[in-house]
Amino acid sequence: MTDGGHEHARRRYLAAKRSVDERARNRRVRDRLLAALPAEPRVAEAGCGAGLTVPALYEWGVRPSSYHGVDVDAGIVAFARHVAPRVLRRRGFDAVETGRGCRVGDADLEFAAGDALQALPAVDSAGEVDLLLAQSFLDLVPLGSALDVAEAVVSPDGLVYAPLTFDGDTVFQPAHPADDRVLAAFHDAIDATPGRDSRAARHVREHLRERDAHVEAVGSSDWIVRPVDGAYREDERFFLGCILSFVADAVSDVDGAEEWSSTRHAQLARGELTYVARNHDLLFRPGGTAGADHGE
Ligand SMILES: C[S@@+](CC[C@H](N)C(=O)[O-])C[C@H]1O[C@@H](n2cnc3c(N)ncnc32)[C@H](O)[C@@H]1O
Repeated sequence: MTDGGHEHARRRYLAAKRSVDERARNRRVRDRLLAALPAEPRVAEAGCGAGLTVPALYEWGVRPSSYHGVDVDAGIVAFARHVAPRVLRRRGFDAVETGRGCRVGDADLEFAAGDALQALPAVDSAGEVDLLLAQSFLDLVPLGSALDVAEAVVSPDGLVYAPLTFDGDTVFQPAHPADDRVLAAFHDAIDATPGRDSRAARHVREHLRERDAHVEAVGSSDWIVRPVDGAYREDERFFLGCILSFVADAVSDVDGAEEWSSTRHAQLARGELTYVARNHDLLFRPGGTAGADHGE
């Protein structure tokens, strides 16, 4: 695939992920977030991807006074600047494009390229952010550093909402004899990548306990992609094809992985393949400010 082809596939993957995410997010954790947020919060986001959490916030009734999203991939940032205002307008919000994102009313919503762990503590609003978003992100970066950044970025009683944080279990159905070997190797490959952690969700909770952070809510948010009458919803066949490629790339030297992969792709093409990934949604105050712990 050309670089342009990769870029297109990456954009399409992140766009296709949205319907899976929307189904998976834990409603109780989200409702707790909405109850805990101040009016017109200052919002920042680490690993903003295609910028699609912004329209989600608006749909939930959140009206940020400012938003600053950072992603390390400059191509994805360009895509977010293009797509977020369009999705907002399609959902009835008056978003006016600017060079770095868009304006909605008085709020500047901007997307920037960079390493979020370095860029977010350096933004003007660092230390005053009411909400730091980190969706499908904490399994990609060193957790201790990410939590240091969260402490530096949010206000003393500010919130971190980290939905869809991977917790190390992957299931494909129907069962295949090589599943255990292939999927164990897949999780091992994630853990062998510097900074990554296939069990990020449970390890975040251990870090939070050690740091005396205040956990507002935790809930399950498994991704479940399954065919309905042999068809997948929206662009989820493409999404699941990408997941199969991520697994295949990570386990190419495992015995039987090639046959496993071609069987899975054939099942996907026939509309027979189901995929489940265990995630948790986490809502916490890194500064440790107490409130009632709505826990798990
Ligand atoms: C799995 S995607 C999730 C994107 C988006 N949050 C979503 O849920 O659709 C993870 C994103 O994090 C970005 N990323 C990874 N490490 C990063 C870092 N250190 N700083 C900023 N972005 C990073 C990737 O480029 C990618 O767009």
